Amino acid sequence: MKKISAAALLICLLMASCTPKASTAGPIGPAVSTAEQIAQGKTIFENACGRCHKLPDPTAHTSVQWVGIMNSMAPKAKLTDEQHQWVYDYIVSVKK
Ligand code: HEC
Repeated sequence: MKKISAAALLICLLMASCTPKASTAGPIGPAVSTAEQIAQGKTIFENACGRCHKLPDPTAHTSVQWVGIMNSMAPKAKLTDEQHQWVYDYIVSVKK
């Protein structure tokens, strides 16, 4: 009995350590942001992305194109990695 619960605990630990964490998302992936972060992404987008050109239309590019666009525009807008993710997730959420 003891052996079984120890094994179960080990499996739980292994699974937990394999679960990707949102904070270590690294390169832009599928939407992982909460509704609150997406709302923040919208605010950042509206404030930061209309400075140099007209505010872009999220539906004008595919989500794959947006990965590349955000990779070149986030440094221009001086976004942090988190803000970059939130703005990207906002853009993708508009398209759905
Ligand atoms: C410092 C100025 C600056 C800021 C801030 C900026 N952009 Fe741009 N953006 C440009 C310039 C310059 C171009 C055109 C040249 C190029 O593609 O690099 C451009 C082009 C674009 C394009 C057209 C790309 C294409 O392939 O058709 C999109 C879409 C875009 N920006 C989105 C954004 C978004 C989203 C943000 C906010 C995260 C942003 N931009 C912030 C300067 C800026």
